[in-house]
Amino acid sequence: MNTKFISGFSKLNKQEKIKIISEELADPSGFLSDLEAVNHKQAEKQLMLEQFSENTLGNFPLPYGVAPNFLINKKAYTIPMVTEESSVVAAASSAARFWSDKGGFHSKVKGCLKTGQIHFCWHRNRKILLDSKKDLIKFLLKNGLNLTQRMIERGGGVQGIELIDMSDQLENYFQLRVSFQTADCMGANFMNSVLEDMAFLLKSYYSESTSSENNNSPVDIIMAILSNYTPDCIVECYVETNFASLENISEEMSGEEFARKFKKAVDIAQLDPFRAVTHNKGIFNGIDAVVMATANDFRAIEAAGHAYASRNGKYSSLSKVNITEDVFRLSMELPVAVGTVGGLTSLHPIAKWSFEILNKPTTPELMMIIASAGLASNFAAIRSLITRGIQEGHMKMHLGNILSAQGAIDEERASAIEFFRDKKVTFHDVEKFLKKKRKS
Ligand code: MEV
Repeated sequence: MNTKFISGFSKLNKQEKIKIISEELADPSGFLSDLEAVNHKQAEKQLMLEQFSENTLGNFPLPYGVAPNFLINKKAYTIPMVTEESSVVAAASSAARFWSDKGGFHSKVKGCLKTGQIHFCWHRNRKILLDSKKDLIKFLLKNGLNLTQRMIERGGGVQGIELIDMSDQLENYFQLRVSFQTADCMGANFMNSVLEDMAFLLKSYYSESTSSENNNSPVDIIMAILSNYTPDCIVECYVETNFASLENISEEMSGEEFARKFKKAVDIAQLDPFRAVTHNKGIFNGIDAVVMATANDFRAIEAAGHAYASRNGKYSSLSKVNITEDVFRLSMELPVAVGTVGGLTSLHPIAKWSFEILNKPTTPELMMIIASAGLASNFAAIRSLITRGIQEGHMKMHLGNILSAQGAIDEERASAIEFFRDKKVTFHDVEKFLKKKRKS
């Protein structure tokens, strides 16, 4: 495609946009028919999907699957997952099955507080601001909560406000840090609306005139926005068993050897950021897939999780292993700020079914489900890495993709799957196999 600048693109209708883009492609009609093929059959649902974002040309399908056999706090779950990576669902399902007769996943929510910030500069003697702190906070709590009534009825609302002086680090810079409970919502829109209202009130509180512009206020609002770092919205999760029940996990190792090698692998990720990033990526394989399937914001969850992994000043593993006598415990805690109502959770045509598959969980329950999926993915990855390696299982799952890329028909596909059942899958070998089969 020849990239060119297109002015006023967003004002065009969908067909016009598709036309402009497709005209530049090698195969415009192929593009049109592929877009058409993945359109939602119900026009109103297609329209709703298109309205989620701007300049939408069509849908971009990803596999929607489930990982069954999760036992979390003694309750059975089938967990919906959206991911493009071949082995993620299989790995999570296999870990879920493995732990289901060993007590399953134990999980607990430690808190659900979220933070919003009003960043501002103060252009007068800082003592005036610091001395008036208590009255300011009282004023904001009295006048800045117009939008919170419905949230309070649902058990949420503003929980507190702090004034933080950071003027020693950045000239004139202060912030108001507002903590929120957002009940069953992720609450981003709610928090941002309250914060913007409060920012206006903050400026007007110190304004000498009553004009709505507050031009003479010593407060210069820089921005008002929630923080996606949610260290007070934490879920913890662990699995635990004794060496004896790890006995058959590998032909080469005893249960105890497996447990100790597993611990070494996790200790390495605690120590070395290069390994920690990959280790945590494996955890987010499971987490993101559930976050996506429930139409929550996976970028927010990832950003918070990685920041939390650096909370001690160095990026480290989110999970850890403890061995006490003959008991192996893999555990993890991390922030997971999600919602079960609001946002796209009930609008997305498939996400609402995910909630039904999960038996309509509360938000803390969803946090525990997500953490368990993350820990399951972590367990499955490390189990493979320290035993047969990751590629064998991964490439078995990837075989289907290689066959698709080679244009394999059903019969070729079936015989390749049979042929590679007990063999190592490589791109080269699959290609060779197909060539030979096609010749014959
Ligand atoms: C691959 O998607 C994830 C792993 O690399 C995670 C890990 O190394 O722990 C297998």
